Amino acid sequence: MSFRIQPAAPARPNRCQLFGPGSNTKLFPKMAASAADVINLDLEDSVAPSDKDAARANVIEALNTVDWGSKYMSVRINGLDTPYWYRDVVDLLEQAGDRLDQIMIPKVGCAEDVYAVDALVTAIERAKGRTKPVSFEVIIESAAGIAHVEAIAASSPRMQAMSLGAADFAASMGMQTTGIGGTQENYYMLREGEKHWSDPWHWAQAAIVAACRTHGVLPVDGPFGDFSDDDGYIAQAKRSATLGMVGKWAIHPKQIALANQVFTPSDEAVTEAREILAAMEQAKANGEGATVYKGRLVDIASIKQAEVIVAQAELIARG
Ligand code: COA
Ligand code: MG
Repeated sequence: MSFRIQPAAPARPNRCQLFGPGSNTKLFPKMAASAADVINLDLEDSVAPSDKDAARANVIEALNTVDWGSKYMSVRINGLDTPYWYRDVVDLLEQAGDRLDQIMIPKVGCAEDVYAVDALVTAIERAKGRTKPVSFEVIIESAAGIAHVEAIAASSPRMQAMSLGAADFAASMGMQTTGIGGTQENYYMLREGEKHWSDPWHWAQAAIVAACRTHGVLPVDGPFGDFSDDDGYIAQAKRSATLGMVGKWAIHPKQIALANQVFTPSDEAVTEAREILAAMEQAKANGEGATVYKGRLVDIASIKQAEVIVAQAELIARG
């Protein structure tokens, strides 16, 4: 138990983050018209090295000219192990207007990675008189990233969100899979001759949620590569939501509705949460700390659980 109050994460919907390569300008108006809460224009791994300069210019132009409505606009810069990232930051901060909300830093391995980008961003904001501070989101996608996850979550007041990047994470960890998220053929328990699949991403996700919740950062589930497998996407997203994550990436437009569905609390869940709150109000009036709701125990901790669901529903309803 700590006397410290857990800080709240940013109060904005982050159910779906839609990605598109900065080199594919044809996608930009489609992304703007989509139902995703967050747009991630990519300068990193979906852009070939020969296209890096053009993609950067495209993204700046699109931020300044496309009508993105109320979407939260994020740009994924190149990793700090590349020669591209400083130019990404300098050009974005100098040339993109206030429509730039956030920078996504990939392959973060330690808090100092975030510190380095923060120092550069802060200097340019001051030099250019930018009044709206750019926020940060990071991708945990390496052994170092997950080993230092808590320090990374605490690394900067700009930190708003953290995603698990399954593909790079699997490679860095030496995992024997080429799948991007989801069920893995060889990860099962055997009981009485029957296979019961387990979740190889669970530990990393739970570690990310704990780090994020400790420091008021939004935990987000990353990509699900097989965009022909809607059921697999939904199952992964439901596991993430159950663990405390607030949203998931879409790497294809058909995944947007799936994420929005899973990460919007259902009417039934909200009704039940409100009923639990009402039951506890009644218990309080009766001078009791615990009562029975639908045959099961509810107590003062149940109030907090129910409030998570009601607060998420209200935040999404506000847009
Ligand atoms: N955002 C918005 N619209 C998209 C889109 C995206 N990320 N990806 C595809 N579309 C559009 C297509 O342009 C097409 O539109 P149309 O019906 O008007 O022609 C429609 O959705 C269907 O696309 P489809 O033909 O099924 O896919 P594709 O072969 O054109 O593209 C990918 C497939 C995976 C290459 C593409 O979805 C993509 O680039 N995704 C993002 C990859 C990325 O950013 N990765 C980095 C993060 S991991
Ligand atoms: Mg990656």
